Amino acid sequence: MADTIAVDSLSLNAGNDHGRTTLSPFLFRESNKGLAPTRSSPRAFTGQQWTKQVEAAFNVQDPTTIATTAARCHLAHVDETKGHDETGNGSAELPYQTAARALQAHGDGAKILVWKAAAAGTDEVSAYVPISGAALKKAVKKVAELEKKAKKQAEQASEQAAKDKAAADERERVLEAAKAIVLTENPALPAAQKIKIRNGVENRGKRVRVSGWVHRLRVQGKNMTFIILRDGTGYLQCVLTDTLCQTFDALTLTLESTVTVYGVINELPEGKTAPDNHELTVDYWECIGKAPGGEEAMSNKVNENSDPSVKYDLRHLVLREEKASGILKVRSQVMKAFRDHFDNRGFTEVTPPAMVQTSVEGGSTLFELNYYNEKAYLTQSSQLYLETCLPSLGDVYCLAESFRAEKSHTRRHLSEYTHCEAEMAFISFNDLLEQLEEMVCDVIDRTLAHKPSAEIVYKLNPSFKKPERPFLRMDYTEAIQYLKDNDIKKEDGTFYEVGEDIPEAPERAMTDKINRPIFLCRFPAEIKSFYMKRCPENNALTESVDVLMPGVGEIVGGSMRISDLEELMAAYIREGLDPNPYYWFTEQRKYGTSEHGGFGLGVERYIAWLLNLHTVRDACLYPRFTGRAFP
Ligand code: 4AD
Repeated sequence: MADTIAVDSLSLNAGNDHGRTTLSPFLFRESNKGLAPTRSSPRAFTGQQWTKQVEAAFNVQDPTTIATTAARCHLAHVDETKGHDETGNGSAELPYQTAARALQAHGDGAKILVWKAAAAGTDEVSAYVPISGAALKKAVKKVAELEKKAKKQAEQASEQAAKDKAAADERERVLEAAKAIVLTENPALPAAQKIKIRNGVENRGKRVRVSGWVHRLRVQGKNMTFIILRDGTGYLQCVLTDTLCQTFDALTLTLESTVTVYGVINELPEGKTAPDNHELTVDYWECIGKAPGGEEAMSNKVNENSDPSVKYDLRHLVLREEKASGILKVRSQVMKAFRDHFDNRGFTEVTPPAMVQTSVEGGSTLFELNYYNEKAYLTQSSQLYLETCLPSLGDVYCLAESFRAEKSHTRRHLSEYTHCEAEMAFISFNDLLEQLEEMVCDVIDRTLAHKPSAEIVYKLNPSFKKPERPFLRMDYTEAIQYLKDNDIKKEDGTFYEVGEDIPEAPERAMTDKINRPIFLCRFPAEIKSFYMKRCPENNALTESVDVLMPGVGEIVGGSMRISDLEELMAAYIREGLDPNPYYWFTEQRKYGTSEHGGFGLGVERYIAWLLNLHTVRDACLYPRFTGRAFP
């Protein structure tokens, strides 16, 4: 085996190849590690021919001087397939892609070696070989073209820079001049009455003043600027003309700046469109607080295409967008509708505590906290407290936060959610189902009766249809059969069997297939909570119900409650719960028991269904889920 002499990035190998002594300075075999020196020469050359090629290429007389000559030459390697003109440096390890680039980088005197891959099916060897005369000529021509192009580009860039400078100078001049324009309110005009944008229609034709944020901005030449103003109650198009749009503030106005505009709102003529079909013709305005433009502009920090985590980090800014604020407006109306619904039926609203020392829905989703050195939790449900109100207040409800240290990180699970819970005494299971159906539908009717909310609902969910009554009633055992009949299986390919919980995926698959609200009733006792009443006809089942909605799945969980003291005591024991901390709940069964039942509805899930949202997170002001308790 001959020695390998590395020169620059080129390896010189002298060796015996099938009986021929060769000196092959440019040969590299491809290997996993890149290029490895080889003792072979291309099949096309004998050792003698090859040496001559090299001598000719490098114009050297004595082959023994090749090594030193090569070192002196500007060697540049080119590999059209694997080379790279930007990241290459001309070495064998980092070749250029084109010969033109090699010439540009190494000058006219460059000695260019081009990678020649061996033809498949031959016993040729892949190698760097000197560039052919024709290829070199082509490369020289290409370099000339590139130089011409670069010169032209440089000229254009310099022209552009000059233009930009002239424009900047002109803008500077205009801005300076603009500082001299000072607006004053015309005292001859009637005093402007302060209004909110939602009251624009009834205030048309009168002089008004409106304060808000610049939601959109369109400058139309020197003499006209359109602002879409947002004040949280609506959007208002405002038109600034002549000097009004030539002041320093007008010329430097940015989105999200706050302004107060004065003028008269007029209905738009046919063919023109704007929110509420009118616009305010401004006669005077003031800039209250200018928001940053350029890099710092809000639209640069967060926009539709931003990563979800950026959107949650900047939720305080995202809320200003039309969709996010629209959802919150509908949410407000939905909450009001729940309250009106219950109020209308004589329920009393109560506000149970969030910090508790008993669980309702099992220990696994409890958020624990140190409460003056005692163990306490954030409530999972206010149900048990609502039950204690029945003897004093009658039917009760609450709209309060519930907390779940959820193990499920799905698009319908939150760590904190708004829970609408109700409890009723002296009712039957059927009464409970009727009340639930009535509530789900009445809240939709009430929300849609509010015109601005209805507009948002149909904008976000154009195909929304009110659910048909009565809702489908299906027993848990029928659902298990439905999953089998419709080939909906577990991940391991087996079917769900009676006694097993139906998780989110199959529940969703079934609900989406049936595509209407379902009352899924009578779950087995072992998969439901300790407080649920057994079915009189089958002691293994409970008088329980989950309301399932297409697109979301379960939005409500409810049941009749155990009314018998002994049965309740047995339930604590069965579930491994210490009855002592529940004494206040247990005593409801001692001091005048009653048949009673209730339910809890996840407000975010209800909204996600109504507005066809991908995730319940978008139905919250500041969503809380795993890893996020900020901002
Ligand atoms: O089915 P759940 O756990 O039932 C209860 O808490 C009962 N104590 C309620 C009662 O009878 N008063 O929860 C009721 C509803 C669910 O159907 C769901 O809509 C919602 O609360 N929910 C959640 N929403 C968002 N994120 C979570 N992690 C939720 N867990 C439950």
